[in-house]
Amino acid sequence: MGPFADDLLHNKAVLITGGATGLGRAMGEMFLKLGARLAIASRREEALKQAAQQMSSENNVVFYKSCDVRDPAQVLDLIQAVEQHFGKIDVLVNNAAGNFISPTEKLSPRAVDAVLNIVLHGTFYTTLEVGKRWIDNGQRGVMLNIVTSYASSGSGSGFVVPSAAAKAGVLALTRSLAVEWAKYGIRQVAIAPGPFPTEGAWSRLSPTPELEQRMIERIPLRRTGNQEELAHLAAYLISDYASYINGEVVTIDGGEWLQGAGQFNDLLEVTPQQWESLSAMTRNGK
Ligand code: HXC
Ligand code: NAP
Repeated sequence: MGPFADDLLHNKAVLITGGATGLGRAMGEMFLKLGARLAIASRREEALKQAAQQMSSENNVVFYKSCDVRDPAQVLDLIQAVEQHFGKIDVLVNNAAGNFISPTEKLSPRAVDAVLNIVLHGTFYTTLEVGKRWIDNGQRGVMLNIVTSYASSGSGSGFVVPSAAAKAGVLALTRSLAVEWAKYGIRQVAIAPGPFPTEGAWSRLSPTPELEQRMIERIPLRRTGNQEELAHLAAYLISDYASYINGEVVTIDGGEWLQGAGQFNDLLEVTPQQWESLSAMTRNGK
């Protein structure tokens, strides 16, 4: 049982980059449950094949094709293949990403490129290839970009600087095209997740239990997200029920971002006893 009717995404053809693992896979599974037809793409053919087999049912076979989104020629092949297979693409989910923690001064130019090319250039290439076709064919569609909570204006993050810069670029792409392409019936939306334990993210960003614990302590809800929570949000945003949402980014992070933003948020650590003496001290400025 979930919040949606079983046919919420009936017959919508959805392409998810990075759809064999982690959040991409969780979204794909949810979309299939809600009646969508699904294509997944990423670099590792074996991972795609296995995921597609596990996700497919008798009446709904998942299409997969290996593609490195950093390469425009491979992106063109992918989009052509998906369009040929389903006859159309209704929804593009730009979910493929690369990221790791590192002091910025330790990064080589190749390390910077590795992240920027996947996240910013890759998202741009798929967006362009799909967008041009929708415009030429007079077809409506939705693009959902998975960014991060540290990509929003007024935010950012040390130690993941290529990712922060690239995801901020993707957010700018989302908001800019929301204006430019709305006249073609193309909607742009984004999700900014806080921490969601996935093998891909945890191995590169939270590799020790201590780091994970510190991460959880920064989240007002005191837990990480679960993948179904994000998949439900994604299903709503790509559905026709969200048809007036354009250019918006929805943060799903248990309040983590806001806690970091507030000057006095560290007062969460003050005990009730300490509050008693603090409030006595601060009353009437005494
Ligand atoms: C410093 C590193 C590094 C690290 C790689 N490099 N890992 N530098 N610290 N941990 C450097 C390498 O030394 C090399 O530079 C350059 O980066 C390219 O490395 P390759 O391994 O050749 O790159 P490639 O095979 O293209 O792999 C890309 C990748 C990798 C990004 C480096 O991690 C990857 O495939 N990631 C995909 C999945 C992923 O990252 N998922 C997490 C998404 S989570 P030199 O100069 O030595 O040649 C997310 C948001 C999380 O995005 C937010 C959490 C709250
Ligand atoms: P993940 O499982 O590592 O997902 C990344 C996916 O991208 C993988 O399937 C990977 O597959 C694919 N990919 C990487 N490079 C690619 C390339 N060059 N071409 C095509 N595909 C490529 O990690 P995740 O946690 O699920 O992340 C999914 C999305 O959520 C990402 O956009 C990430 O930035 C975002 N996010 C995650 C978190 C979190 O806490 N988990 C938080 C904020 C944002 P291959 O290796 O087979 O190519």
